[in-house]
Amino acid sequence: MKVNWPERLWVNSPVRKLVQQREARFFSKLHPLAPGAHCLEIGCGCGVGANIIYQTFSPGTIHAIDLDENMLHAAKRKKAAWDSIPLHLVAADAQKLPFPDKCFDAVFNYGIIHHLEDWQSGIGEISRVLRGNGVFYFEEIYPPLYANFLFRRILVHPRENRFHGPQFRGALSDAGLGLLEGYRESRFAIVGAAVKNTE
Ligand SMILES: C[S@@+](CC[C@H](N)C(=O)[O-])C[C@H]1O[C@@H](n2cnc3c(N)ncnc32)[C@H](O)[C@@H]1O
Repeated sequence: MKVNWPERLWVNSPVRKLVQQREARFFSKLHPLAPGAHCLEIGCGCGVGANIIYQTFSPGTIHAIDLDENMLHAAKRKKAAWDSIPLHLVAADAQKLPFPDKCFDAVFNYGIIHHLEDWQSGIGEISRVLRGNGVFYFEEIYPPLYANFLFRRILVHPRENRFHGPQFRGALSDAGLGLLEGYRESRFAIVGAAVKNTE
């Protein structure tokens, strides 16, 4: 589901960028990536997260997808100012990724899975495109944050089939993604990483 203008203001703000930079440093401490890795970011918005991933992990390639063409246009404009970043921007739905099985070393989710009506399919797709021992890095939020009395009047999100921590962590496990120790979780959000089991 696309975001509305108040949320667009938030995701394009300098504060959001600082949050993402801090989380990327946390991700790399939890599980560093070898330079040259092939990375995917789902729901990249205006592309700030992809640039942070590039600065933090020195990947060989980053594919970044978003459902919203306007967000992708903004990302393309930003990309033009970033020297030689190996970023490929693709219009796609995170519930049906247009990539073959086992083609990425890492997938990044900066707060988009709670925008998916069928978020379980989103997690299944992430697992499908990850290689064995590939890493899923995530920042995700729960209804007490985005669907509380105030924010449910300002923001738009799916109302059915929602998840809190136990459901999110359970879906990772069901999809063969082993949660790494050291993740941070509250009743509002979770930030962490999970590694794809080798078959
Ligand atoms: C809350 S914004 C987060 C943007 C960026 N990742 C960030 O953290 O600033 C959610 C993003 O996910 C995108 N999105 C929502 N549903 C999607 C879907 N089914 N597939 C791909 N992208 C989606 C929205 O267009 C939006 O850019």
